[in-house]
Amino acid sequence: MSTILFIGDVVARAGRRVVRDLLPGLREELAIDFVVANGENAAGGLGITPKEAAELYGVGVDVITLGNHTYRHREVWPYLDEQPNIIRPANFLPTQPGRGTTLVERDGGSLGVVNLSGNLFMQAGSPALLTIDDALREVEDAELVLVDMHAEATSEKVALGWHLDGRVTAVVGTHTHVPTADARVLPGGTAYITDVGMTGARGGVIGVRREQSIAVMRSHMPQRYDSAEEDPWLNAVLIRGRGRRADSIEQILRPGSGP
Ligand SMILES: [Fe+2]
Ligand SMILES: [Fe+2]
Repeated sequence: MSTILFIGDVVARAGRRVVRDLLPGLREELAIDFVVANGENAAGGLGITPKEAAELYGVGVDVITLGNHTYRHREVWPYLDEQPNIIRPANFLPTQPGRGTTLVERDGGSLGVVNLSGNLFMQAGSPALLTIDDALREVEDAELVLVDMHAEATSEKVALGWHLDGRVTAVVGTHTHVPTADARVLPGGTAYITDVGMTGARGGVIGVRREQSIAVMRSHMPQRYDSAEEDPWLNAVLIRGRGRRADSIEQILRPGSGP
C-alpha cells in the first residue's frame, strides 16, 4: 500500500508558506510516500520560477505539475527541459519547453505522474483525452500512476476520470482553485476528484486580493493584481492505493498558521 498526497494549486507566498508549515506534520500523521503539488501559481500568483520550484522540493514535494500559466516566467523555460520532476501538460505542442510525464521512485515503490490540460477555454495543442493514451505509455513501468487534469470544464475532467477508470491509480482535477465535493473511488478502482482546490489565501478571489478583483468586475477597467494573504488554507487529497487500484481518496482541507 502506498500513500500519495496531491496538493492543489499552490498560490503565491501564502500558499508556499502553508505547504512549508503543514507538510512535515502531515507526512508523519498520514504516513505519506509521495507528494505531488500543482505549482502553476507559485510565483506571485502566476507561473513559477526555479526559485519557487526549489523551495517546494526543499519542503518535501517530489513532483510539481503545472497548467495554463506554465510559461509566464522566461527563467523557467530551460529549467523545464533540465529538471525531470517538474512537468507541464503532455498535450502542449512539442515545440513548447518541458515534458508531460515523469516517474519517481521511493523505497522500492514508483509513481508515474502525468499532467494534462483541458481543451475548453484553454490553449492546448491536442485533445487531452487522445494524448493521454500516449502519455500513459511513458509511465507504464510505474507501480502507481496519478494524472493531474488542469482544466476549466468539469465535463472534461469527469470524462477523463471515466476514460481512465481502472487504468491509473488517480485522476485529480486542478485549475478552478475551488474544491469539489465528488471525491470517490470509481467502480474500476481509480480515485477521482473534479477539483482539489487551491493552497493559498481563502480571503481573496481565487488567490487575488478581493478588493482588487471586485473593483475590476465593477469597473471593467484593468488594475494591478496582488496575491491575497488572508486566511491561508491547504487544499489537498490523500490517495491510498496499490498498483493501479486506489483504496481511498480523502480531502485534506486544513487552515494554515496565517501570515
Ligand atoms: Fe491555478
Ligand atoms: Fe490554471
